[in-house]
Amino acid sequence: MNYKKALQNPIFDVISKSAANLKVDSYVIGGFVRDFLLDRTQKKDIDIVCVGDGIALAKEVSKHLPDQPKVQIFKTYGTAMLKYQDCDIEFVGARKESYTEDSRNPAVNPGTLEDDQNRRDFTINALALSLNPETYGDLLDPFNGIEDLKNKSIRTPLDPKITYSDDPLRMLRAIRFASQLHFTIEANSLKAIAENAQRIDIITEERIVVELHKILESEKPSVGFLLLEKTGLLKRILPELTALKGIDEIEGQRHKDNFYHTLEVVDNISENTDNLWLRWAALLHDIGKAPTKKFNKKVGWTFHGHEFEGSKMVYRLFKRLKMPLNEKMKFVQKMVLMSSRPIVLAQDIVTDSAVRRLIFDAGDYVEDLMTLCEADITTKNPKRFKKYHNNFKIVREKIEEVEARDHVRNFQPPISGEEIMTTFNLKPSREIGMIKETIKEAILDGDIPNEYEAAYQLMLKTGEKLGLSTSS
Ligand code: CTP
Repeated sequence: MNYKKALQNPIFDVISKSAANLKVDSYVIGGFVRDFLLDRTQKKDIDIVCVGDGIALAKEVSKHLPDQPKVQIFKTYGTAMLKYQDCDIEFVGARKESYTEDSRNPAVNPGTLEDDQNRRDFTINALALSLNPETYGDLLDPFNGIEDLKNKSIRTPLDPKITYSDDPLRMLRAIRFASQLHFTIEANSLKAIAENAQRIDIITEERIVVELHKILESEKPSVGFLLLEKTGLLKRILPELTALKGIDEIEGQRHKDNFYHTLEVVDNISENTDNLWLRWAALLHDIGKAPTKKFNKKVGWTFHGHEFEGSKMVYRLFKRLKMPLNEKMKFVQKMVLMSSRPIVLAQDIVTDSAVRRLIFDAGDYVEDLMTLCEADITTKNPKRFKKYHNNFKIVREKIEEVEARDHVRNFQPPISGEEIMTTFNLKPSREIGMIKETIKEAILDGDIPNEYEAAYQLMLKTGEKLGLSTSS
């Protein structure tokens, strides 16, 4: 088959001619070819393999491009990269690789195109298109990857035991592709992943996180997480989640399986948001339930304080996975910490003051929090499902109404500490905090409006109660 139409980007012509100058064969390979054949958005990363010196080819290509872009060389890997327009183009010489038990870094020797295709992770990623003038656009597919694309199957070119053991990151990649592309992992491959699961321990956290992000970003992330669980990878990567598995029963009282519940919540939220961090929050919203689970004869199973415990666990989990401990992490923590608040609201009569407090505590994240809580409704009882959703609708309407009227989002106290000090001729002291708190509480409870004059009067009254006299 010929796929010249995949090679419309003028860069391919430049590569083809440059390779001819150097008298080496060159091919575009991997994700670019796969995504073209799958009709997916064209990738901005293009992998070029040449039967010869990849670094020399990159330098030759750069010479023939306008502005001669800089060639970045990765000596240890024998690869080179250059940027052309918005694409990253990576060059590598075709190679044979042999791996050792304890490392992802193989011993590398030059090889043929077929050797190079052999060492790749999946048949669908080993597809190559020729850039050689006489066969330009021809597909080279020694493992029938095209058939696997049609059958939506993830299969390794070699015995899966070898492919996964060579580079255990591929176990995660297999699951990520299954989740991302709606593919099935071929049975032998899945078995090999389960058998090699412990080898994931040699992979750096950063690379694991890249794959977890991609699983979470897929349309139905549960597909990936169920595979991670089934193969034994999840308990090595995210034991906080596998700890949620199972249903306990004491004296006929059972609680729900919080692992499967969590996956439902993640799928639900993914229908409504592409925000990766909100999806992380959904994934982690119940992790505090495992360490806080208790059985109480009167009330049954309880998970007191699981939101607080969970938010502390978020920090430890991010740290362990070497994810940045930044605003995104704080956002996830906040979502986990507040994850039950709107639910309590929606189960009861929705009062203005409860809504005001919710907006005050959640600030700009109040909509995200509502999205999380709506996703958290996984009851199979249609009546309750409807009731909770209706109540959340009321909460959302109330939020808008209260917001428009009371402006408590990003609350700034109408009376500053300084004004309190001048009014009562005070030095920094406990009383100032007490007065400020009284004003804030009165506003949140709706006892006074969020306005200067009302707050000023309350300040005077509170000062008087505290035995303070005004300076005038
Ligand atoms: N590859 C591999 N084993 C890995 C990583 C990559 O064999 N652990 C090979 C595959 O042939 C892959 C190519 O290198 O297609 C490029 O890898 P990469 O850019 O990481 O992935 P893509 O397949 O291009 O897809 P994506 O961008 O979605 O990760």
